[in-house]
Amino acid sequence: MNLDGKVALITGSSRGIGNSIARLFIKEGAKVVVCGSKLENAVKAVEQIKKDLKVTDDVLLPVGLNMKDREHVQKIVETIIDKWGKIDILVNNAGITSNVSLLDSTDEQFTEMFAINFFGVVTITREVVKYMKNTGGSIINTSSMVGLYGGRNQSAYASSKFAINGLTKSLAKELGIYQIRVNAVAPGVVGTDMMADNVSEEMKQALIKMTPLNKMAEADDLAGAYLYLASDLSKFTTGTIISVDGGLLM
Ligand SMILES: NC(=O)c1ccc[n+]([C@@H]2O[C@H](COP(=O)([O-])OP(=O)(O)OC[C@H]3O[C@@H](n4cnc5c(N)ncnc54)[C@H](OP(=O)(O)O)[C@@H]3O)[C@@H](O)[C@H]2O)c1
Repeated sequence: MNLDGKVALITGSSRGIGNSIARLFIKEGAKVVVCGSKLENAVKAVEQIKKDLKVTDDVLLPVGLNMKDREHVQKIVETIIDKWGKIDILVNNAGITSNVSLLDSTDEQFTEMFAINFFGVVTITREVVKYMKNTGGSIINTSSMVGLYGGRNQSAYASSKFAINGLTKSLAKELGIYQIRVNAVAPGVVGTDMMADNVSEEMKQALIKMTPLNKMAEADDLAGAYLYLASDLSKFTTGTIISVDGGLLM
């Protein structure tokens, strides 16, 4: 298996894309820290994964990790190191989105967006790298197609993802010396709660029409790209942003 003996910390894995990544990583032999914004969400997700994949407690650790609570983020990393001794893979996937025009937006909305989608990522990455620099590893950030091309009424969200791309490339240059690879995945539109809450049925159909593969992605369709970036299959790949959008934007 591609991730035998590896320890993976995946933020935002209580549901959606992160949950699909967690499931694939477990199937590939990893131990996985499953995170929700609250502990109860992570515990619920872990119970479901155990049932579905018929795995035991020793490969799963549920964690409540609110990306806004940066002090707590530091403590969580220490807890994982105490339990499993290392973190080989960090997937910075937790995120929020919004659809609001500039004129209707507030500074507080931009601050909230960046607190979760960007500053939380900086904090957790710094804490993980303190340990990962001794072993090497793979960091994978979840970006977005709007982090490459922008999006109408999505200036806060798109800007936070452009920042993630900058972080990805800069840290790839900085951390390569420790054999830490840093890459990103840029999903298009994916059938998760985030999409259901923000994209109308009409918009969904229009996006499907514009997508060369003529359908919308499910969360599972994204996980393979993360497996590639997490494993030795991509051992000489760093600083890249892989679009997984069915060809929607190219
Ligand atoms: N879906 C799409 O079309 C799409 C497209 C491009 C990029 N993306 C990106 O993909 C990533 C995952 O999106 P998704 O569609 O899977 O979203 P989702 O279904 O809404 O799931 C979001 C995940 O993030 C967690 N989360 C939300 N706020 C958090 C916070 N403040 N602190 C910690 N965790 C928090 C949630 O935890 P709880 O369960 O505890 O709430 C959940 O696990 C995001 O970074 C998103 O920007 C998604």
